[in-house]
Amino acid sequence: MEDSTKLGNPRRVQLPYGKVKKMEIRHDDLFLISYPKSGTHWLMRIITLILNGSDFDADCRHASAVPSLVEMLLSQEGDDPGMLMAKKNRGLPMDFSPNSMESPRFLTTHAPYDLLPTQFHEKRPKLIYIARNPKDLVVSAFSHFSIRSRHIYDEFSELLEEFLAGQAIANFGHWGSHVLDWWKRRHEHNVLYVKYEDMRKDLKAGIKNIAEFIGKGLTPEDVDKIAHHCSFEYMKNAPQGDTFMKAMGWKENPFVRRGKVGEWKETFIVAQNEMMDKYCEQWLKGTGLEFEMGRSK
Ligand code: A3P
Repeated sequence: MEDSTKLGNPRRVQLPYGKVKKMEIRHDDLFLISYPKSGTHWLMRIITLILNGSDFDADCRHASAVPSLVEMLLSQEGDDPGMLMAKKNRGLPMDFSPNSMESPRFLTTHAPYDLLPTQFHEKRPKLIYIARNPKDLVVSAFSHFSIRSRHIYDEFSELLEEFLAGQAIANFGHWGSHVLDWWKRRHEHNVLYVKYEDMRKDLKAGIKNIAEFIGKGLTPEDVDKIAHHCSFEYMKNAPQGDTFMKAMGWKENPFVRRGKVGEWKETFIVAQNEMMDKYCEQWLKGTGLEFEMGRSK
């Protein structure tokens, strides 16, 4: 994997994958893994509520119990300013270590397969991988990295070009390889592979599937309650007093924007769509991994 600092690309987010590699892993950890903008925060919330038996006030009271990106937990001076700010906002000390978290831990990472902690492959904790169609994903990423939090990209075409070259956002390499590395392993006992589009189509079925994988029994009322609190509409308009939002230090949820399948059609021009189709064909053809891209205009 390339070292983004050596490439000198100021657009890249500097994530502490050296520290992630050395991180201690426990057998009873639960991981959520995704390429950014795939619905990570949505799943973080769903999983937290499943773990809490749909009690959305429980376990959100302590910053270290709020589901977190290990890249953020392990960030220190010199790493990505956005990650440092998130760490500070949670009231976590700069030298906070996930080692101090009580078991069982629920952790999230965007690390591609090759950058996962070395112990991950020995201990084989349960992991849920969420994948999203790359067209909506890049539109979501453009919004995140150009308009909302930082002005890394002026034009959508700049981000798309880097994405297609496997160089967008941070040192994750190709999206195609990120999603396929776990797709190939989706039948392993500790792996659950879900797609954003399927969760969007039937949230309750998605919640039940995840709960079953985690080994948490839910009543139909629990499922209804979780689906209500994780619906796009609720999360978009969540009241400021919402425990989860408070625990995250958010006035509004920056990771809930449009939540559409097929929004890419408002952004892509024909040539860009052709380039993305070619990219998908190169990576996904013959693998069985397919994505719903949304209804035609
Ligand atoms: P859009 O930008 O396309 O709207 P991540 O957490 O990985 O950064 O992903 C963010 C994406 O997940 C955003 O996509 C966001 O709107 C979407 N999302 C967040 N909460 C959601 C929900 N409850 N239902 C559907 N999509 C959701």
